[in-house]
Amino acid sequence: MSKIESFQNLIQQKIKELDLEKSPVELYAPMKYALTMGGKRIRPLLTLLSCDMFGANVREAIPAAIALEVFHNFTLVHDDIMDVAPIRRGYETVYKKWNQNIGILAGDAMLAKAFEILVESNEVHIKQLVGLLSRVAVEVCEGQQLDMNFENSEMVSLPEYLNMIRLKTAVLTASALMAGAIVANTSEKNQKEIYHFGENLGIAFQIKDDILDVYADENKFGKKTGNDIITRKKTFLYLSAHALATGRSLSLLKKHFSDTNMDDVNRVKEVIEIYDQLKVKEIAESKVAFYYKNALANLDNIDIPENSKVDLYNFAEKLMIREY
Ligand code: IPE
Ligand code: IPE
Ligand code: MG
Ligand code: MG
Ligand code: MG
Repeated sequence: MSKIESFQNLIQQKIKELDLEKSPVELYAPMKYALTMGGKRIRPLLTLLSCDMFGANVREAIPAAIALEVFHNFTLVHDDIMDVAPIRRGYETVYKKWNQNIGILAGDAMLAKAFEILVESNEVHIKQLVGLLSRVAVEVCEGQQLDMNFENSEMVSLPEYLNMIRLKTAVLTASALMAGAIVANTSEKNQKEIYHFGENLGIAFQIKDDILDVYADENKFGKKTGNDIITRKKTFLYLSAHALATGRSLSLLKKHFSDTNMDDVNRVKEVIEIYDQLKVKEIAESKVAFYYKNALANLDNIDIPENSKVDLYNFAEKLMIREY
């Protein structure tokens, strides 16, 4: 078994051990559903890989790793309400299976649960780790609010978009890596570099998610494709298309992102036609490669033997070529 596989097994086992068979069942059943129906477990794996890379025992990083995964799953439960998303990880979303109030409350409890798990960490790290999770929780909310604000603006600049995805997605992958670095007591310089590695990786990851939202195989992706178009998200694909389109294409694009009375199936089809004509998928892929390269440069700068970085290099590469 590879190191990554054994870490993944450890994460799965710890999540299974969470005590979620409780009452009221209307609160706990959706929490359990959100936490156990799949998921790539990227963030806790990043925490363990970082801790391991900096030479500490990964068991020390387990509370932080699981806390971050619980936190991430909370954001997804609420995100699906905000994005009116019907499917997640191949299953009905929590608010669809139950209802919105159930989704809101299960999410709230998961957020609190994340802190409850986090404070199981070694006492010497608790203050720093709680500071880290509190900060990232507020930042993710900032990102989510910007993401929703942008639904109603015709044009969003590239820096505005990048800041939004940094906040909604990249600060969490950065913090996951940082948590491992904190537990391993590595130098401040290394902590900074691993954080920036995670930030660049997270930005690449979100642009890739924008691509997959349009072009993935729905069965593998586990989410409804085209949902970003339906909800008028200002994704990297949209920004690129808006910058390149002229004449009829531009007016059609604008119409599809403003007129809410149109049939969604037709909307998605026609927007994808514009995206294809303008080859925005290729532009987005080169942006993914750019941020991935930046991430690798951060990893290069970390002051530890090169051979300890191998697992993280390999995992980052796998993430960039993911299809779901
Ligand atoms: C989904 O994250 C939310 C984004 C930041 C795009 P993941 O793609 O890591 O979701 P799961 O946990 O594997 O389902
Ligand atoms: C991910 O944004 C950010 C958070 C969930 C906090 P998306 O809305 O793009 O994520 P998916 O596509 O629903 O997984
Ligand atoms: Mg969203
Ligand atoms: Mg969403
Ligand atoms: Mg998405």
